[in-house]
Amino acid sequence: MKVGILGSGDVAKALSGGFVKHGHQVVLGTRDTGKLKDFVAQHKGAQAASFADAAKFGEVVVLAVKGSVAVDALKAAGAGNLTGKPVIDATNPIAEAPPVNGVLRFFTSLDQSLMERLQAAFPDAHFVKAYNSVGNTRMINPEYKSGRPTMFICGNDDKAKAVVRQINDQFGWETADMGKVEAARAIEPLCMLWCILGFTKNEWTHAFKLLHKE
Ligand SMILES: NC(=O)c1ccc[n+]([C@@H]2O[C@H](COP(=O)([O-])OP(=O)(O)OC[C@H]3O[C@@H](n4cnc5c(N)ncnc54)[C@H](OP(=O)(O)O)[C@@H]3O)[C@@H](O)[C@H]2O)c1
Repeated sequence: MKVGILGSGDVAKALSGGFVKHGHQVVLGTRDTGKLKDFVAQHKGAQAASFADAAKFGEVVVLAVKGSVAVDALKAAGAGNLTGKPVIDATNPIAEAPPVNGVLRFFTSLDQSLMERLQAAFPDAHFVKAYNSVGNTRMINPEYKSGRPTMFICGNDDKAKAVVRQINDQFGWETADMGKVEAARAIEPLCMLWCILGFTKNEWTHAFKLLHKE
């Protein structure tokens, strides 16, 4: 698969590393390709380019930028370069204000998630929330004694979600599809819950698992 990754930070690098490891081709999009010089040199199959060229390259696009600039990065990528494509949305709407007793603050409300804003602003892209509530060091084939952890996903387009489900399978996750874009109101705050253990106990390697009766 050809994957365009919008971002140059830890998440963009972790997911790029995973795609390359599993034989996919990656172009990372950034305002400054110099930032990715070392990463690209170390990862055969990964290249750095502008946001627009990364989005154009991808059959699948990954959004891995700071939540507050997600719309700007998507604008720079170009709506036309996202049309009809699955866009894996790993972002979180984290506000500038500091956490309170380890609880992050969001700039969104429980009545509208960041992904709903993105889906409304780019109606022809098929956003799928995923990889927002696990640390970047555990995104790719993490190993836990209790088995595969759960990746909660949501989005309006079933075909796009099927693509993400396949990626989750490769990356060592079981998928829990929570429904349409509004479910991001519940999935985005899982990041808050996940980070509490980090901020209060310095634990950064856990993951969520959904247990079923059967
Ligand atoms: N860190 C984690 O472990 C983790 C885990 C799960 C989810 N997340 C979420 O994943 C996203 C990425 O996190 P991160 O820690 O990898 O990186 P980050 O520091 O949150 O974001 C870095 C990216 O934001 C872009 N950016 C910053 N200002 C911009 C602007 N004005 N216009 C366009 N792009 C801009 C940067 O682009 P340039 O390359 O051009 O500088 C860079 O690619 C965040 O939404 C975060 O909440 C993080």
